[in-house]
Amino acid sequence: SFDPHKISRAELFDFHGVSMTHFYTDNWENVQNFQARPDDILIATYPKAGTTWVSYILDLLYFGQTERQTSTPIFDRVAFLESTISPLGPGKDLADNLPTSPRLIKTHLPVQFVPKSFWEQNSRIVYVARNAKDNMVSYFHFDRMIRTQPEPGEWSSYFHRFMEGKMVFGSWYDHVNGWWKKKQTYSKLHYMFYEDLSEDTGREIDNLCSFLGLSRSDEEKKLVASGVQFDKMKNDDTTNYSTHCAMDLKISPFMRKGKVGDWKNHFTVAQSQQFDEDYEKKMKNSTLQFRTEI
Ligand code: A3P
Repeated sequence: SFDPHKISRAELFDFHGVSMTHFYTDNWENVQNFQARPDDILIATYPKAGTTWVSYILDLLYFGQTERQTSTPIFDRVAFLESTISPLGPGKDLADNLPTSPRLIKTHLPVQFVPKSFWEQNSRIVYVARNAKDNMVSYFHFDRMIRTQPEPGEWSSYFHRFMEGKMVFGSWYDHVNGWWKKKQTYSKLHYMFYEDLSEDTGREIDNLCSFLGLSRSDEEKKLVASGVQFDKMKNDDTTNYSTHCAMDLKISPFMRKGKVGDWKNHFTVAQSQQFDEDYEKKMKNSTLQFRTEI
């Protein structure tokens, strides 16, 4: 079982064509056999794309400000399905035992690894994508501060590793495209973008409500939009991960910058050019469009 005092950085290995660490494969059989319900909401993302932001929006939309919410950290209210990094036990067990209805469940799995019961039950899925450059920067700082991920090393080597897809949960390119393709055949999938959320949170909340079939008053929706602002979440111990067993927020806070375009403070001009050329090749067959600034 998981012991927070014995955490050490895991090695990447190839898992059915996707780079993973044991923390997310140790419970594989149970995760694959997870029994989804028709009213479950699955929040799917590549790591660092805005998972927590959207999780908190959904949490507030469904449950408002409750006692559970002000006393339980977001990572215990929203179950991280494939994770084994919790003193409370595997994320799959947390998901099984969530007291809420609907259950909010989070995953970073590429689409081909999602337990089949979600498709069978026709559960709603919210996918959040973030432009590759900001996603990479955010992931780099995250890997520096969480003691379970492989050592990020220097930025310049991380940069190459990201382009090669040698990241935990695999290639960003495969992830965003795999889920985008799924959207063509699975109608209960809402594909949204971090940049849109940043540009107009209210509009994105409206879109989420339509997708979820939720009617909320303008006033309720405004409350949600103001409740999920970056500074609010950064100063709230239930949403800023300050109580998480594997993170050292002195190295880099979980709620780090929350901006579109922070990549400009990390990429050199040469790196940006090299990245863009490679990006064009990798994304040439994709209709996905990202904004790297707003
Ligand atoms: P940065 O590292 O760029 O600041 P995830 O929840 O998927 O791990 O993503 C974390 C990223 O989302 C971090 O990005 C974090 O700051 C950002 N984020 C979380 N809540 C946010 C909010 N309310 N507004 C803007 N960005 C937010």
